[in-house]
Amino acid sequence: MNVAVSQIEIPEVETDLLAVGLCEGEELPAELASAPGAEDAKGSFKALRTIHPEAPARTIVAGLGKREELDAERLRIAAALVATEAAKLKAGSLAWALPAGDDAAALAEGIVTGTILGAYRFDRFKSSDPDDPAPPALESLTLLGPESVAGATRTARVCAEAQNRARDLQSLPSNVATPSYLAERAGEIAAAHEALGVEVLGREEIAAKKMGGLVAVSQGSAEDPRLIVLRYDGGGSGETLGFVGKGVTFDTGGISLKTAAGMQEMKMDMSGAAAVIEAVGAIAELELPLKLIAVVPATENMPSGTAIKPGDIITQYSGKTVEINNTDAEGRLILADALAYAIEQGADRVVDIATLTGAVMIALGSTYAAVISNDDVLAGELEGVGRETGELVWRLPLHPEYTALMKGTFADLTNAAPKRKAGTITAAGFLEEFVGDTPWAHLDIAGTAWDVGRPYTGNDASGFGVRLLTGLARELANNRAA
Ligand code: BES
Ligand code: MN
Ligand code: ZN
Repeated sequence: MNVAVSQIEIPEVETDLLAVGLCEGEELPAELASAPGAEDAKGSFKALRTIHPEAPARTIVAGLGKREELDAERLRIAAALVATEAAKLKAGSLAWALPAGDDAAALAEGIVTGTILGAYRFDRFKSSDPDDPAPPALESLTLLGPESVAGATRTARVCAEAQNRARDLQSLPSNVATPSYLAERAGEIAAAHEALGVEVLGREEIAAKKMGGLVAVSQGSAEDPRLIVLRYDGGGSGETLGFVGKGVTFDTGGISLKTAAGMQEMKMDMSGAAAVIEAVGAIAELELPLKLIAVVPATENMPSGTAIKPGDIITQYSGKTVEINNTDAEGRLILADALAYAIEQGADRVVDIATLTGAVMIALGSTYAAVISNDDVLAGELEGVGRETGELVWRLPLHPEYTALMKGTFADLTNAAPKRKAGTITAAGFLEEFVGDTPWAHLDIAGTAWDVGRPYTGNDASGFGVRLLTGLARELANNRAA
């Protein structure tokens, strides 16, 4: 989407649709207050009213609620509602008057993010109906506000567009978005940026490296696995940040087969990978001054004559042995290798992001992702960036008693605790065995990657994590600059 900031006065702006926000108890700008329909405009949060001023065009008044509660999240939601309305009205261009507020940059971010995410559709597999053609895409957004928000506006656009690309990857079916497809997408991003390099390993190279977890999970599948490594050098002499994203392009459960109901949704078990790959793209586009390594283990999890079986014992990349007691607990096996590899390759702090457990949906639903970390500073940064971006994270604890539940009977570890206790935490406890003393945070996004239901995410792929990871990198880059 073409996004610009302009200081043009409302009556002069050329646009198919104009949006203005209205807080409860406040007045519309004078030039709109006498327009037909203006008397019905309401400030209550999420209320939408169309009014018809002489100029510039059809105008939507979006209720923003109480002024003291006005923040970026409210604008993301209001802007997404307006974007939906714009589609109904077949508007190709939209102008938004930036509401007054203490933090103009945050409000501008909210409008841009909400508009771009709210305008997103995944309809490329639908044949077009000549009698009912799909509405044209919203092509441009003009923010009517001070030039000082131009930087925040650009950052928001880059991040939201990356998030929509992550949603594409999530939504693409597993017969399209294969491990090699993810690798190609990573290659495309790397090719577009000087500071970015990519390395891709196939089945034989993965085996030669003795990445036993990725070998085990992929051995039941005819589709070749990939280990995707992106390296970004944006300068700066500081530490290297590490990202690891779970890239299970389809999770059947393997021999511990999942039930049929809803299994189609398991095409999204690569949502962590999607977030990592597209976040790296956004970071490179923003030319953030930091160093980054991203590792994505990508594979299907299939039952077959060559698949791993319950009770099988494997050796992870780190040398630890694991008894596979449930082949459906596959994510932790591939993440264990990727985490150890990222650290060996120079990550000083590492964040992994994964649709890892159904249990996180029971604990936190789709509102918060779980963050589990051995480092208070890193966990605190993620919580802070979560509050700013609306990609909320809630910390769950680590404790040696949880880790003890992952001890193996015949090997060092088991991949599935025998008792159904604290499933999200024990999964993280397993991962903790592979990070040593490196500051690490694990994000379980099984609840937030899909069906979040906010106006700007909809009920399918959310792209959760792109703005969180990019925000963390921005934080690091800023701290370094300061
Ligand atoms: N990919 C699933 C987790 C998941 C569930 C993601 C629902 C998205 C929506 C993961 O691989 C899995 O199957 N986890 C098991 C672990 C168990 C066998 C220890 C689970 O959560 O049931
Ligand atoms: Mn599984
Ligand atoms: Zn899985």
